[in-house]
Amino acid sequence: MNHSYSYQSTLTAAAAVNWRIEDIIGGKHKLDFAKPFMPESLACVEPLTFLTADEKLVLNQIRGNTYLCIFGLVEEFILPFVMDHTRAHLQNDDYRARALLQFASEEAKHIQLFKRFRQEFQEGFGTECAVIGPPEAISKAILAHDPLGIALTTLHIEWMVQRHYLDSIKNDGDLDPQFKSLLKHHWLEEVQHAKLDTLMVESLAEGKSEAEILSSVEEYLEIGAFIDAGLTQQVEFDLDSFTRATGCQLTESEKYDFRRVQQRANRWTYLGTGMTHPKVVETLERLSPKARDRVESVSPAFC
Ligand SMILES: [Fe+2]
Ligand SMILES: [Fe+2]
Repeated sequence: MNHSYSYQSTLTAAAAVNWRIEDIIGGKHKLDFAKPFMPESLACVEPLTFLTADEKLVLNQIRGNTYLCIFGLVEEFILPFVMDHTRAHLQNDDYRARALLQFASEEAKHIQLFKRFRQEFQEGFGTECAVIGPPEAISKAILAHDPLGIALTTLHIEWMVQRHYLDSIKNDGDLDPQFKSLLKHHWLEEVQHAKLDTLMVESLAEGKSEAEILSSVEEYLEIGAFIDAGLTQQVEFDLDSFTRATGCQLTESEKYDFRRVQQRANRWTYLGTGMTHPKVVETLERLSPKARDRVESVSPAFC
């Protein structure tokens, strides 16, 4: 173990940052549709040079809506997973039980926040934007995997949020302040989740042989492939939303470029940034250098 994460310190940090949904969305907190929602490093609309500036802005906002909806989706599997993990050792460590219950409670709050956001986005944007789902089916498919494989997926997702916020969002002055505030508040609580995920991974890996760990890593990669297939479908949904929102009829070669650029952007956003996050790589290395090698052998396809 080469970190200092503990259930007690994450619980203290969580209490200090805890926010209420009604304080960050609704009322005076309005989305500004004249501004981009997503940083360009994740939205990747600029390479689509055949689009006008206004069309790029629309696509950026569609990607922003999809981004928060996809978090809402994945958090629907994280919530029951964390609750099951908590229940297994309720009596042994009070700080553990409280920190994990706080984690679950925050994910339930994030799910509700993202649903609320989707409603507001819909009203302001004016065009219905489809997002992959339904959440129950996606959650069921992911939860059918081995617990350590699921814990690695959760670890990946929560460190990915850290990377997005710190590297691309925090210092981007062009983004809509309200959308940015939602990302910031989400990130503030995800900081603790990423640490708790590390502790969950360590606890689930305890006593496992190298072969068992490598088998869990395969399950993590299977979940990644499942998410990747969902992202391919999402690019089609985003193309359809874009066409309906702008009335822009792309030629076949423009559609080809749209799919190519956006699929790459989605893969980087949801898969590459997590798989290659130094903290994820470090945790894999601690489990087994072979686990790290295995993930590093496939991650370039998502970068
Ligand atoms: Fe969350
Ligand atoms: Fe989280």
